[in-house]
Amino acid sequence: FIEKDLVGKKIVITAGPTIEPLDPVRYMTNHSSGKMGYNIAKEAVERGAEVILVSGPTSLVPPKGVNLINIKTTEDMLNAIDARFDTCNVLIKAAAPADYRPETVSEEKIKKKDNDNELIIKYIKNPDIVAHFGNKKEDQIIVGFAAETNNIYEHAVEKIKKKNLDFIVANDVTKEGAGFNVDTNIVSIIDKEGIKTDYPIMDKRQVAKLILDKVKSILEYKS
Ligand code: PMT
Repeated sequence: FIEKDLVGKKIVITAGPTIEPLDPVRYMTNHSSGKMGYNIAKEAVERGAEVILVSGPTSLVPPKGVNLINIKTTEDMLNAIDARFDTCNVLIKAAAPADYRPETVSEEKIKKKDNDNELIIKYIKNPDIVAHFGNKKEDQIIVGFAAETNNIYEHAVEKIKKKNLDFIVANDVTKEGAGFNVDTNIVSIIDKEGIKTDYPIMDKRQVAKLILDKVKSILEYKS
């Protein structure tokens, strides 16, 4: 039995990697499978929320009832959210968007050069999606993720401040059973006051439940 405690709430959830093309046959990406974001979307829709799932390329089947928007690049992801953010109550950023993209995208396949042993590619910064929505309305909630390999707490607190987040879900992606491309995660939730709660290893669906329970209590507090 699942309580429909998110009826009437519009939630935008991002999932998966973004990919940044280099030429017509090559791109840069990361190991995100989309599992974390898709589990949040499934939990949210089953609890009655209207869910918009903005997803990079994954091999997952989208949960029934979500409004799926497929995107490729970080800029696409930003634009897809931008078009919907005004009317949403909650934004949850479980995706792993590429921070940089190749400065130029070659129209033709880059050829291998026989007399050159290196290929140098210049990358330029992508927009930071979460920070873009930092001037949100007071009653809108933004949940960020932090995929870290060291100094998790310090980085998370910095991100909360810099990106005006309501809370952050930090995962140490070097731990076995956590982070990219596994069914489980090991997270710490850090709130605006800097209070950190550590959780044991659990299924990503259970992590999704934890996140949405916290979202629900903040929604109640803000209303
Ligand atoms: O997809 P899975 O295989 O299930 O893996 C889950 C996950 C490891 C991808 C997920 O749990 C996770 O940690 N997602 C965030 C990954 C990430 O990009 O972390 P970050 O510390 O680089 O970014 C911090 C926050 O800013 C994130 O909420 C991210 O979505 C957001 N961001 C990052 C870059 C960018 N250009 N714009 C952003 O909004």
